[in-house]
Amino acid sequence: MELSQVEKQLIRESYARISGLKLEAGRLFYGRLFQLDPSLQEMFHRAPLETQAEKLMQVFDWVIDRLDTPADLKQQLAELGAKHIEFGVKTDHYALVGASLVWTLKSALGKEFGPEAESAWIELYTYLSGQMDG
Ligand code: HEM
Repeated sequence: MELSQVEKQLIRESYARISGLKLEAGRLFYGRLFQLDPSLQEMFHRAPLETQAEKLMQVFDWVIDRLDTPADLKQQLAELGAKHIEFGVKTDHYALVGASLVWTLKSALGKEFGPEAESAWIELYTYLSGQMDG
């Protein structure tokens, strides 16, 4: 992961803003994801969306705390990726989740989420999904 200090700062700032809107962000995110691919709804039957949104945010909390030490992330991301295979997640799904994530940040944060923040998030997500699904 080759994030500059400025990109890390943009990620931390947009995340701090969105973490006050967890539930709304979760609704936006899953709403968008299921719009892009309604068949994914079946995959998420085990827990209410609020719980899923909470979990997704927890991973991001954890990732964001480790932006400066990405080596610490590798093992856990590989394990998380293996779990996802058991959940039925396929490679193509990662792009849909990435698109939904960026769309959620844009929708929730509006003008506060500029093109530099967007490209920093894309780089972060590309790294995470590459480690999980590599
Ligand atoms: C960087 C990308 C992703 C991250 C960081 C992430 C993170 C997580 C985490 C932390 C969990 C909870 C695991 C547990 O309960 O032990 C989870 C569960 C899950 N994720 Fe992901 N995920 C990612 C991508 C995806 C993608 C692409 C899909 C497919 C659409 C997906 C579908 C699921 C499903 C179906 C569950 C299980 C839900 C349940 O408990 O019923 N995830 N994810």
